[in-house]
Amino acid sequence: MAGFPNDFLWGAATSAYQVEGAVNEDNRGPSIWDRFAHAPENILDHSHADVANDHYHRYKEDVQLLKALGVTAYRFSIAWPRVFPEGTGAPNPKGLDFYDRLLDELMANGIEPFATLYHWDLPQPLQDDFGGWLSRDTANAFADYAGHVAGRLTDRVKHLFTINECSRLVDLGHGTGQDAPGLKLPKRELNQVRHNIALGHGLAVRAIRSHGRAGTRVGPAENIVNCIPAIETPENIRAAEIAARELNAGYLTVMLEGKYTDAFLASTGRDAPKYGADDLGIISSPIDFVGLNVYTPAHYVVAADNKQGFALAPFPASFPNMSAPWLKLGPEAMYWAPRHVAKLWGVKSIYITENGTSAADEPAADGTIYDLDRIMYLRNYLTHLQRATSEGLPVQGYFLWSLMDNFEWSDGFATRFGLYHVDFKTQRRTPKLSASFYREVIRRNAVV
Ligand code: FCB
Repeated sequence: MAGFPNDFLWGAATSAYQVEGAVNEDNRGPSIWDRFAHAPENILDHSHADVANDHYHRYKEDVQLLKALGVTAYRFSIAWPRVFPEGTGAPNPKGLDFYDRLLDELMANGIEPFATLYHWDLPQPLQDDFGGWLSRDTANAFADYAGHVAGRLTDRVKHLFTINECSRLVDLGHGTGQDAPGLKLPKRELNQVRHNIALGHGLAVRAIRSHGRAGTRVGPAENIVNCIPAIETPENIRAAEIAARELNAGYLTVMLEGKYTDAFLASTGRDAPKYGADDLGIISSPIDFVGLNVYTPAHYVVAADNKQGFALAPFPASFPNMSAPWLKLGPEAMYWAPRHVAKLWGVKSIYITENGTSAADEPAADGTIYDLDRIMYLRNYLTHLQRATSEGLPVQGYFLWSLMDNFEWSDGFATRFGLYHVDFKTQRRTPKLSASFYREVIRRNAVV
């Protein structure tokens, strides 16, 4: 198999709350993750991210970590509570200074910035005053913030992601309560939250168009509910496409089609969200690319002679997974995610915005972390990505999650996803063997 296209972008990713620390500096306001993590029962190791990787102060060192990998792009997120400490109203004059410095440092090192506007750190006042994403006010405030950032930073950032993983934000933040704000909403309210988040995405797209410099590109970064044909027959492939369209109905489907599918509306029934006549047009405002976070297959699909036209095969208990039980090892997910998006919606530009795995990451006797399981995982997923690009699917870049170990949400620091190991007592960063593997992939522009 040939390697990747010549202009393929290789990157690594992080997010603000997971790495920055400095939660009380330069007038940053509190976010729902500060509040959530400070209730010790919410986080596995009772930690919070007040300091995390201290990236706010160590960003220059961290840009050198990127440089040592040879990446050409970096995906980070901007903390809304730094920019608007109250969520709305007057911007904090110091709010974007850190990102100004970070951008300059990236540019000076030849690394192209890709910025996510919302990686889950909602300003706490919006939760307290409006009920967060239960209210359209939050969607409007998000658009104001997005427009402000676009006006200030798009001289250097040409690619903006609106919301990271709408579906996890809905399901884990507002359904199971595993993520901030830790809510377990009833169906009707959960459907409203889902709608308002999609609306926030669309309003932000429009705000970025009106405030950003010409040439600014914008899109979502979504963890598509990934539907894989169990066996690649034309019937199963068609069934997997139907399943992908239905199971992403509240996210990519409505963003790209401007309507909720009939089956989705039937499933919400009396608990359907309330929305205005213009909402679906706003949600489906034209985007320039789709970002996809791809970790694991959600479902293996077979053709079925039923009303919906597909059936989801149950996972056998023996199906392999990586160190986290949810992280099933199904590398073909990396091929089918972009293939569905290109085929179902004719999307012409796709980025893999996250992919990676946690691992035990124990140092061997010589001190090295031989994370062979992570290398195995990456090699397999990247092989399927290479299949995708060699078949002409329009994937233009790949961001590995994550540059370095960081605060892994409700797992705290116990779960490590980094290419660089971080000792959180000393803040020392040390490359794992997977960092060498990734550097070699980048150098050859091919899976090795
Ligand atoms: C994704 C998140 C990211 C990271 C990875 C492991 O759902 O977007 O911040 O936690 O999972």
